Amino acid sequence: VKVAVEKRGALIVLEGLDRSGKSSQCRALASFLRERGESVEEWRFPDRTTAIGQMISSYLSQTAELDDSAIHLLFAANRWEKKSSMESTLRNGTTLLVDRYSYSGVAFSAAKGLDFQWCSTSETALPAADLVLFLDIDPEVAARRGEYGLERYEEVDFQRRVATYYQAMRDSTWQIVDANQSVEEVQEALREAAVSVIQSCKSGAELLRLWP
Ligand code: TMP
Ligand code: MG
Repeated sequence: VKVAVEKRGALIVLEGLDRSGKSSQCRALASFLRERGESVEEWRFPDRTTAIGQMISSYLSQTAELDDSAIHLLFAANRWEKKSSMESTLRNGTTLLVDRYSYSGVAFSAAKGLDFQWCSTSETALPAADLVLFLDIDPEVAARRGEYGLERYEEVDFQRRVATYYQAMRDSTWQIVDANQSVEEVQEALREAAVSVIQSCKSGAELLRLWP
């Protein structure tokens, strides 16, 4: 007798420095997966549409000042307010493609000098990504892309420090993609990794939690 097994969606996160191309790659990957018949939603953090997200947005556009620890916790709260919706979407079999997540939360705050361990604590027990697609770009190259420098954090020396904290977080769920390649080459690398992790989530891979 065949028993229907719950086939969950995958939590796929795109990470990288500002202007590494995450947003357009995310969009292209979503349409590719949908054409293959996958159910996919595109999310991003910060989610600027919520009340917390609007505070974050004012901080980023430099119209508001906030203590470093306070803004760190707001970024985290912006993920916590989405936790149950994230989990139910995955359990319903929909894959989430998320533009930035807890990895940004830790890397950017630690780069400001906040304690790395303290920064991870606010993420504890949030769903862990099944796959982190890290778009690896030289901060100097990113800085030459359009509109760079409009928001807080878009500054080469700071981004260099962010990159070192990203490096410290790499584990077996990370796939490092050279984002200095052409848009098409980057997309090709993302597709392979995404298709494979979606398959393993359908075959019952457990949803893990951050950060043990
Ligand atoms: P965005 O450019 O992807 O909208 O992200 C806005 C900025 O916020 C970006 O410089 C990264 C930073 N950030 C944090 O500092 N902490 C976080 O938790 C997240 C999600 C982003
Ligand atoms: Mg940005």
